[in-house]
Amino acid sequence: MTAQTDLNTYDLVVGGETVAADSGGYFETVDPATEEPLAKVARARKPDIERAVSAATDAHEKWSSTAPQERGRLLSDLAERIRANQERLALLETRDNGKPLSHARSDVETCARYFEYYAGVADKLHGDSIPLTDDYVDYTVREPLGVTAQIIPWNLPTNIFGRSVAPALATGNTAVVKPAEQTPLTAVEIGKLAAEVGLPEGVLNVVPGFGEEAGAPLAEHPGVDGVSFTGSVPTGIEVGTAAVENLTNVHLELGGKSPNVVWPDADIDSAVDSTMRGIFANAGQVCSAGSRLVVHEDVRAAFLDTLTDRIGAMTVDAGETDPDMGPLVSETQLETVTEYIEIGRTEAGDPLVGGDTLDRDGYFVEPTVFDGVENSMRIAQEEIFGPVLSVIEFGTEAEALEIANNVEYGLVAGIHTRDMGRAHRFARDVQAGQVYINEWFAGGEETPFGGFKKSGFGREKGLAAVDAYTQVKNVCANISPTRERG
Ligand code: NAI
Ligand code: MG
Repeated sequence: MTAQTDLNTYDLVVGGETVAADSGGYFETVDPATEEPLAKVARARKPDIERAVSAATDAHEKWSSTAPQERGRLLSDLAERIRANQERLALLETRDNGKPLSHARSDVETCARYFEYYAGVADKLHGDSIPLTDDYVDYTVREPLGVTAQIIPWNLPTNIFGRSVAPALATGNTAVVKPAEQTPLTAVEIGKLAAEVGLPEGVLNVVPGFGEEAGAPLAEHPGVDGVSFTGSVPTGIEVGTAAVENLTNVHLELGGKSPNVVWPDADIDSAVDSTMRGIFANAGQVCSAGSRLVVHEDVRAAFLDTLTDRIGAMTVDAGETDPDMGPLVSETQLETVTEYIEIGRTEAGDPLVGGDTLDRDGYFVEPTVFDGVENSMRIAQEEIFGPVLSVIEFGTEAEALEIANNVEYGLVAGIHTRDMGRAHRFARDVQAGQVYINEWFAGGEETPFGGFKKSGFGREKGLAAVDAYTQVKNVCANISPTRERG
């Protein structure tokens, strides 16, 4: 065991400075590939949240009145600084979260890209001019919400940091970021990089800590004007409820059980690629994972043969060796996933592939596929958040749609077919915030993202995030008040 004193320390970033928690308390994060302690992190509690919200409040007037092009320039500088630190941040992310190094690199690039994209938005926040009668001039102005809070999950820490924070800052809000207790390290580092590029103090604050101790006081703080939350449904409901008590704007992104529909006329190699990326990327710990493979009866057997071969060639190892799949993030997550595998065995019999944990240190589980799954089973209805694919067969277009829609979630839906009429009929009728045609994870920083049904509400990414982080003011002027009426 590494002695605690050897661990690197990560403090809070509040008001442009790195500071210890008010209580002086720390917690340890763990490397999920080794189960060894990785770092010592300041443990924010209510007084630290008070301090961070107060720093963000003090910073708001100056930041919102900073010339838009200057705000954009600073965010662009931050994007470049994140890119310049890509290797260091990626390695930190891999050790903290477990993901393969190349995935961590791509998450860091995505984070930089969000800051770059929204840097370009800062000076393009136009309002509308609305024609009324000749006696009036009417226009709208987009104003920032004020102090915003971002509560970030552990699955894509750097990526979701950029996604949630960049649009907030670009639109003139200040931010208090609460990273997940499992993976807080890159958030602290990006907070420090922001200070280095000259972001005014208090504009971006980072308060690592636990959900109950740091997340809850942030979500319910009356000084917070907007909350962005990504995570589980029960926590999302708590956060949303706390925000609404203060009539605070809230956006909830809450996961899914997304269907990936494969027709016999699809390019099967590409559909297998998509299926694998959809469920094994990040060891399946992705809100937009393609966790239900809905495959046509005429192609099911051939498709599963190819899929099984491809899974057989996958490497599962510590993220630092850059395997196809790393460990799960935590012991808790390993317990959840192995429980679901047991449920799957009861519901659908032994898995076609995988189903076991690896006999080594670290939270490793095999890529797992259950065949012969009925859509009513728990492994077809509940988010597992692990590398566990449920295969459901269908025959007709109506059946495929019925299976796709018959879940509580509605985050993503995918379809693989060469028949574009069919693809667009599916896109029209499926209940999901985004539809992928012939590629899982299609889209980018520019495309709006969010859920239907229990997958939450509100949109991030693209210009949709600008709506989420601004409030519209309508100004209506009577320009002929003294004109004779009639
Ligand atoms: P969680 O939803 O409890 O945690 C997400 C974030 O919320 C973390 O930063 C956490 O500290 C914070 N949090 C927890 N309780 C809070 C509270 N009362 N008030 C304010 N913030 C709070 O998720 P958890 O327990 O880590 O994972 C459980 C399941 O949630 C996963 O198995 C997965 O199914 C789902 N999940 C979905 C994610 C997504 O991207 N949609 C991301 C992470 C988890
Ligand atoms: Mg960790």
